Amino acid sequence: MVGVGIDAIEIHTGKLCLDLGETFAPEMGDDPDKYRKGLGLYTSSFPDSYEDIVTMGANAAHRLMKRTGRTPADIGRIDVATESAFDNSKPVSTYIAGCLEQVFETTFHHANKGERKFACIAGTQSLDDAYNWIRAGRHRGRSALVIATDTALYARGDAGEATQGAGAVAMLISEDPSLVELSPEQGYGSADETDFLKPNQQFPSVDGKRSVQVYLSRMREALQDYESVAGDTHPDDFAFIPFHTPFPGMVRKAGLLGYRHVIRDTGVEEELAAEIGRQPRPEAFDDDQTYLDAVSEYTDALKETTRYQEWYEQVIEPTLNISRYVGNWYTGSVHVARASALKHALEQDRELTGDRLLVASYGSGAQAEIHTETVQDGWKEEIAAFDIDEHLDARHDITFEEYERIHDIHNHDIKSEDVEEFTTPSDEFVFDGWGRMGER
Ligand code: HMG
Repeated sequence: MVGVGIDAIEIHTGKLCLDLGETFAPEMGDDPDKYRKGLGLYTSSFPDSYEDIVTMGANAAHRLMKRTGRTPADIGRIDVATESAFDNSKPVSTYIAGCLEQVFETTFHHANKGERKFACIAGTQSLDDAYNWIRAGRHRGRSALVIATDTALYARGDAGEATQGAGAVAMLISEDPSLVELSPEQGYGSADETDFLKPNQQFPSVDGKRSVQVYLSRMREALQDYESVAGDTHPDDFAFIPFHTPFPGMVRKAGLLGYRHVIRDTGVEEELAAEIGRQPRPEAFDDDQTYLDAVSEYTDALKETTRYQEWYEQVIEPTLNISRYVGNWYTGSVHVARASALKHALEQDRELTGDRLLVASYGSGAQAEIHTETVQDGWKEEIAAFDIDEHLDARHDITFEEYERIHDIHNHDIKSEDVEEFTTPSDEFVFDGWGRMGER
């Protein structure tokens, strides 16, 4: 059976950059280390006034198609995953296709276009839809274009404000892919939750602390469900584990939870329990709190072991390198984490062909999904072509006043004639009023 997976990937970052430690923390009256060490974030990306989910998605997709020599005739499906959509009827994919058709001068007339929504997990759901479409044999030899695009903005003063971000990830899904092949096995953890939602509102209503617990619970369930179909996992099975990354501190917690789970019944758990002198699964106590305290003491001690820290440094930390500088991109976030890990491996001159990734996606509302991916032999060329550093370095650093202004602009609190641009667009799609999107 021919493999199906990600053939190529491109990332477009919002063109403005807010330094959280230098610029944001002093205005909030916070210690910069709350952001740098606590949340694990240094800077975040924001869209300039002429950027939105359409232009960011179209710019990423255009670069991807140009680089890989694809034209609209090669694409049988365009799925856009977003939780920042502005149209309740016409999918964002039609707006993006409209932009691309201007430069390719041919149309996507025979492509199926849609929009996927389930908070941040929708990017992975779109990937799954494309995978299933190709597997079902309905693709007629064509590829699917999957675009995850979001402006992740919170209300000013919300605890989530420091985790904001904006950008798009475009991925080409094909048979016999160059980058990674997806596993047919998947695991899910899914439950109706209300800790993060946006019912007819621009900014989310968030119970931040609870959202962290919901993320961890759904992730544990997804891992258990995955193992029920794919068999037990071992910590050494995976080169990297890219998690959905709302902020790197969240992944620190998820990594520890994942490790605790995957060392069960492997011998590693017993060895580490003996080393730290604590039981991994203490006998039940009469009092629930005493039991929970014992579990938490074990977990805290486990985190300090050299074995765990080396594993974390190798398998999880490299997935966070880009996220630390861009913030939460919602639907694109786990795909940025994968790209970050592969880029790190290339820089370290590591050989990854045939190695596996455990990809852990999550969306509030809430659902986690786990699948594995096998790195393909074209990965080095593909990742070498990926010029994210250049785009990150080209961002314009904004002052706090400029940050307030751009936040208001994207919240439509500024009259259109008063909207200014902070950077100059060049050879890219820009938002220039409804229905007038184009290259300039
Ligand atoms: P907060 O309450 O302001 O922060 O916001 P905090 O006080 O909990 O501090 C954060 C961390 O910094 C803590 O570490 C502090 O100890 C540490 P932890 O105990 O968690 O390990 N800290 C410091 N460290 C070093 N030096 C210092 C210092 N000060 C503090 N001086 C919160 C945190 C998560 C609530 C907030 O960022 C938030 O509401 N975020 C938005 C919601 C979110 O991202 N939730 C994550 C899970 S849900 C999810 O991922 C889905 C999502 O992407 C949406 C979707 O699916 O569509 C959000």
